[in-house]
Amino acid sequence: MIRSVVTGWGDYLPKRVMTNGDLAKLVDTTDEWIIARTGIRERRIAGDDERTSDLALKAAEAALSKAGRKAVDIDLIVMATTTPDETFPATATAIQHRLGMTRGAAFDVQAVCSGFIYALAVGDNFIRCGQAGRVLVIGADTMSRLLDWSDRGTCVLFGDGAGAIVLEAAQGQGNVTDRGVLSTHLYSDGRRHDALYVDGGPGSTRTTGFLRMLGREVFRHAVTNISQAIEDAVAANGLEASDIDWFVPHQANQRILDGTAERVGIDPSRVVSTVARHGNTSAASVPLALCEAANDGRIQKGQLVLLEAMGGGFTWGSALIRW
Ligand code: UT7
Repeated sequence: MIRSVVTGWGDYLPKRVMTNGDLAKLVDTTDEWIIARTGIRERRIAGDDERTSDLALKAAEAALSKAGRKAVDIDLIVMATTTPDETFPATATAIQHRLGMTRGAAFDVQAVCSGFIYALAVGDNFIRCGQAGRVLVIGADTMSRLLDWSDRGTCVLFGDGAGAIVLEAAQGQGNVTDRGVLSTHLYSDGRRHDALYVDGGPGSTRTTGFLRMLGREVFRHAVTNISQAIEDAVAANGLEASDIDWFVPHQANQRILDGTAERVGIDPSRVVSTVARHGNTSAASVPLALCEAANDGRIQKGQLVLLEAMGGGFTWGSALIRW
């Protein structure tokens, strides 16, 4: 059986730091409120001339370098983003061009904060079907461009960033001892549109629009949906939550991370949390946390890593990987 093994990873955060104190000068909020309700202490904001593709390119280059691969070795780029440089073409094609890759294919996937899990699932399926041997999966967003900086309920939550991994085909036995992606589970529920959306777009207002969210509603569904995605992943592989070595969740809110881990029975010491330093970076969130734990030596070869995310749509999902 063909498996998709993670052979490289990389990330990038813009230089500009925006603290909770900086936000308190813009809206009626406090450092204490933001930390207590979200765990976020600071976030990064892309420069005025910095595009989503600029962030993504740096993460992609780092991932390729870690994998010991060149752009010409890659068959496919799947990029998750909600904040493309332009409405079209796909930002993935800008990355393809800037990496110097003149063959293969590149396209974007849109699933907001779940984007990286979706893109990973697409890349994994291309590999397992034999249609691609090496796939660059990217999650990158400049959510700061979609924020209403007068809405304290949303502007304190998000930040900008990028992360990427390289997936490569490898022969496996077809059981949970295999290295690589063991399973992906994707879900969506379009009835929840109004809880989290952008009030504009080329097909409606012809403007970009601003992010709108019913925070409490999203919070409630987040813990339930994410827990279900985790339980499905674990059960599909005949495992228990206690078998998971590292839980790498979408970094939206520390309370959601804690609530989910408690509900499904994952020990807090196994949870990778980076939300304090970059807030919710949408599609970049999972790979940013993954890179940190892989780079600092927490995630070791052969360990079981569970990724999950939930976002607008609603969309949500999980991926179980043996590193
Ligand atoms: O990736 C998926 C996308 N999003 C998420 O996962 C986010 C999910 N939701 C959340 O993380 C939380 O719901 C929030 C952090 C957004 C809000 O926390 P909460 O505990 O659900 O607060 P709340 O919305 O129930 O608001 C409580 C109070 C309200 O005041 P009143 O009505 O009780 O007087 C808000 O107006 O907090 C107020 N509030 C703020 N106060 C200070 C809302 N935002 C702020 C703020 N600073 N930034």
